[in-house]
Amino acid sequence: MSETPEESLPFWEQPETVARFSGRDPDHRLQELVRDYPDPAATRVLDLGCAGGRNTVFLAERGFDVVAVDRSEAMLAETRTRLAGILEPDEIDRRLRRATMDHLEHIDDRSVDLIVAVGILHSAASRKEWNAALSEIARVLKPGGRLLVANHTDECDVDGHGLTRVPGDDPLYDRRSGRNFLVSAEVLDQEMDAHGLTPVVSTVTVRRETEGGGCRVTANGLYVRGPATTAEEARVLSAFTRIKARRTVIGAVALVLVIGLLFTLSFGQGPLWPIIFGSALSVPAVIYNLIWRCPACGRFLANHQGPFCGQCGVRLR
Ligand SMILES: C[S@@+](CC[C@H](N)C(=O)[O-])C[C@H]1O[C@@H](n2cnc3c(N)ncnc32)[C@H](O)[C@@H]1O
Repeated sequence: MSETPEESLPFWEQPETVARFSGRDPDHRLQELVRDYPDPAATRVLDLGCAGGRNTVFLAERGFDVVAVDRSEAMLAETRTRLAGILEPDEIDRRLRRATMDHLEHIDDRSVDLIVAVGILHSAASRKEWNAALSEIARVLKPGGRLLVANHTDECDVDGHGLTRVPGDDPLYDRRSGRNFLVSAEVLDQEMDAHGLTPVVSTVTVRRETEGGGCRVTANGLYVRGPATTAEEARVLSAFTRIKARRTVIGAVALVLVIGLLFTLSFGQGPLWPIIFGSALSVPAVIYNLIWRCPACGRFLANHQGPFCGQCGVRLR
């Protein structure tokens, strides 16, 4: 039987595939995870392999600064159409990019708070592509940033036709959607670890039977990018430690002198020196706090968010 023009298109460009992925509900783990981000507008999320946009649209509707990447023109067109009612056209242009997961050059280092990589990483067709994709993820994530993953495992046989292993050492398999890199949950953790990504919760294997008589098996994980994985970050951390040490010393001396001052004022006795030194040191301590800058981006740190610089997101302690 000959193929229809639609069937001759690559799998991810076929209208039937686009419609199927577009019609799905947002990922249920993502729906939980967004509660951890109280300021969506200040939270950059990367939807890697956005397909028909179910997660991109969900995030955009909630005001997240979501950017999305996919290599399929048809999938991006669908996501674009669905975003039209939510974002202005130039904003949609900024958010969507046709790119592959191993080439995210348009995204800055350490700029993303959360990456959603649901059903995409196993699309790597070689060890080289797999490593490059994980390196890109580690590069663009902020230290402390998180990665939500669902990845088909080496037991995942969606069509029920069995898996065809590609000869060689790498865990590569040929499937209807192309050549894929399929690993168990345990191996996934090891691969992530090699790129500085640590599980936040234990990675679980989820099995579901498919209508075609097969079984969809995924490794579902949530990872965090650890601190100080590069020499630059190590430099920033040690600079910040020095700043904190100086602040602590100045603060402690100022506190002692202010207590001396209060004591003098309360009891009308004692030397005048606590007043002079207390004031002299308290003022620089206050000014020092005001001019306290992030060693990475140089911006004022008055608004740092927990352990992270509020401006560039670098981990400070
Ligand atoms: C299973 S779907 C992803 C589903 C989507 N994340 C979701 O949750 O609905 C896989 C998507 O990844 C895209 N894709 C496959 N390989 C890719 C690659 N190397 N780089 C970027 N996108 C890729 C496909 O075009 C497809 O849209």
